[in-house]
Amino acid sequence: MEAQEFERVLGEKTARLEDVIKKYLPPEEGRQRTVIEAMNYSLLAGGKRLRPMLMQETFEMCGGKGAVVEPFLAAIEMIHTYSLVHDDLPAMDNDEYRRGRRTTWYVYGDAMGILAGDGLLNYAFETALRAFGMCCNDAAAMQRAALALFTLARKAGIYGMIGGQAADIEAERQEQSVTGEQLLFIHEHKTAALIQASMMIGAILAGASEAEVRQIEKCACNVGIAFQIQDDILDVTGDSGELGKPVGSDAQNHKQTYVTLKGLEAAGADVEALSREAVEILDGFGGGHAFLKQLILTLIHRRR
Ligand code: IPE
Ligand code: IPE
Ligand code: MG
Ligand code: MG
Ligand code: MG
Repeated sequence: MEAQEFERVLGEKTARLEDVIKKYLPPEEGRQRTVIEAMNYSLLAGGKRLRPMLMQETFEMCGGKGAVVEPFLAAIEMIHTYSLVHDDLPAMDNDEYRRGRRTTWYVYGDAMGILAGDGLLNYAFETALRAFGMCCNDAAAMQRAALALFTLARKAGIYGMIGGQAADIEAERQEQSVTGEQLLFIHEHKTAALIQASMMIGAILAGASEAEVRQIEKCACNVGIAFQIQDDILDVTGDSGELGKPVGSDAQNHKQTYVTLKGLEAAGADVEALSREAVEILDGFGGGHAFLKQLILTLIHRRR
């Protein structure tokens, strides 16, 4: 696909995902109104919707059909958004802009920022559970939904994103230089885990075999590590207007990143190598995946 045509299709697919996410938002009413507003404020600020996109495309590549994936598309974006709301808090990265807007804590205050993140996390599971109501007459589909839910919980938690964020915070406070091994652990957990959850859930719900899901997990690990290295690169070389978040945040927090460890050039080469290895894994799958492949390769040179 030509780059222009790819951008057009990407725009269409993103708009469809926006509609799905909106469908599952909690209504802003009742005494909880403020916290719900803060949740929706961060969710509706936009963002690339990359994780639901990867989930949907992997679902289709593995032959998935129907709407059972929809609650999970919304749920993964809620969990990702909560991770950003908490990541921006003064106690963590202390950032004032996200997705082209003031951060949630900046607008609603720290306490409400913490609660909006907690709210999004819980509402994500409440939303994902709706998938069971969509397949309750089909025991095999129920089993797939249960495994998808387990994967979501595992990859978002201490053995996934939260584990990575905790290691990231500890690394920021350590006096010695971080090692390459330490940084890979951080990237694999804080960022790749939710990307793994996205692609694995797509595959699981489509009925992929256990061996296929393991392949997808490896592929998504590469995509996720490459994505975080590029994020570290853009914190140095990016444009805050384009990114919708500040540049130089890592330096300000004296954070040792992939760029400080390896330099810009080697970091960029690693993004490319990891991404190419990821699409090679996908090429082993029979299902159509031209768009997914192009998406992963396009991320190598992303500016936002
Ligand atoms: C930002 O993720 C946080 C990282 C894991 C690097 P994205 O770059 O996907 O952020 P949005 O969703 O587009 O705002
Ligand atoms: C955060 O990494 C990854 C998360 C789990 C939120 P960063 O702290 O580098 O993400 P940005 O640059 O603020 O988006
Ligand atoms: Mg951070
Ligand atoms: Mg941050
Ligand atoms: Mg960053």
